[in-house]
Amino acid sequence: MDKLIVHGNSTLKGTINISGSKNASLPILAAALLTDEPCIIRRVPDVSDTNYMLQILRALGADVERSSGTVRIHAANIVPEAPYDLVRRMRASICVMGPLLARLGQACVSLPGGCVIGDRPVDLHLKGLKGLGADIDVEGGNMHFTAPNGLKGCEIDLSGKHGPTVLGTDNLMMAAVLAEGRTIIESAACEPEVVDLADFLIQMGAKIEGAGTRRITIDGVGSLKGVDYTVIPDRIEAGTFMVAGVMAGDGVTLNRVNRDHLAATTRVLLESGHLVEFNEAGDRVTVRPGEAPQGCNITTAPFPGFPTDMQAQFTAMLATTSGISVVEDTIFPQRFMQCAELKRMGADIRVDNGTAIVTGVESLSGAPVMASDLRASAALVLAGLRARGKTEILRVYHIDRGYEHIDEKILQLGGAVERVRE
Ligand code: EPU
Repeated sequence: MDKLIVHGNSTLKGTINISGSKNASLPILAAALLTDEPCIIRRVPDVSDTNYMLQILRALGADVERSSGTVRIHAANIVPEAPYDLVRRMRASICVMGPLLARLGQACVSLPGGCVIGDRPVDLHLKGLKGLGADIDVEGGNMHFTAPNGLKGCEIDLSGKHGPTVLGTDNLMMAAVLAEGRTIIESAACEPEVVDLADFLIQMGAKIEGAGTRRITIDGVGSLKGVDYTVIPDRIEAGTFMVAGVMAGDGVTLNRVNRDHLAATTRVLLESGHLVEFNEAGDRVTVRPGEAPQGCNITTAPFPGFPTDMQAQFTAMLATTSGISVVEDTIFPQRFMQCAELKRMGADIRVDNGTAIVTGVESLSGAPVMASDLRASAALVLAGLRARGKTEILRVYHIDRGYEHIDEKILQLGGAVERVRE
């Protein structure tokens, strides 16, 4: 199992390119199942989650070729059953449900198991697909979907206890594009990744309006065609390097970003007293630490609110920012696994009921720490860059699920990090 050794007191400086979005790529790769024509998808990040998705598509019968960031998928003949052994590795595999059901009139996908960031039910996905007329049977840990009379458009409210659902909106949208008649999704997720999937589907010939708002209208079509598409930049990778730039940087520039997707992250960095400057086009940003940064309060919320996927990285930043900060995660209230490890590095954090109370300390000290999930691991890398001494991050496969070559990008910025292969 690889580990990362991060040498602290680094000064990051220079420019890197941000990769394509992992969370936009995953449903878009699954959506290639909706056509029997080949699709080319560009800027797919080379991370283990996209590789799992490609393995699932292959197991379903699609021809898949990958050459660095460009993926060609030809799903001419596919089967409806996604194998458990692959599905269990990644929750996002559930986004093959909608396309399989729409294309084949049936699907069999394992129920995703537990997840370290909290309970992650699929009730809203099922509600949406049932609304389109699917019969659903859960047996032996598998969800069996059939649509004996074909899928029919419907009106569905997809709001849940913790707000809208991103992959639930995606699944319903992918099923509805080939359903008969009109589907209206109320309380839809507005995340940029949902808009990117809608843009991909529209290019394939789907009729979708309102993606990026709370109400999406889809008029079903008979078939979709193959396309050549480029995914959006990864706003969470960009946000993570923006935080790295203020915690341990002296002028870090990120190319290939989208200013509109980074508004909440930018607002909190500015509020904390740091410097963030975009070019006029909004596709390049430079960050610098401010002279007297101050703690601040953060509450996660669906887009355009502050992303839960940036919560852990900001907790790491606030751990060494003077003052008391309160960080609340309303979407995944149990997503504070990074805090126990940060405390081992000297942070002063109290976690209580979905909230972390962070009292900024002068400095952290490097320590061996354990990665527990993707964003928590990123928080540990950031803390390690800022800490005195050496931080050894074990179970680094978590970070490789979603950050493309993170060690190489840090090295490119002049940081000292080593990957030890074991
Ligand atoms: N929820 C339900 N029922 C459902 C589905 C979701 O109650 O059927 C709840 C969840 O438990 C959560 C809230 O709704 O409290 C929002 O979850 P959502 O469904 O939006 O999450 P997701 O679509 O499974 C995506 C991202 C996550 C990101 C969340 C929230 C992908 C592949 N994953 O997950 O990304 O945290 O949206 O923005 O797009 C990550 O990249 O590290 C990551 C975990």
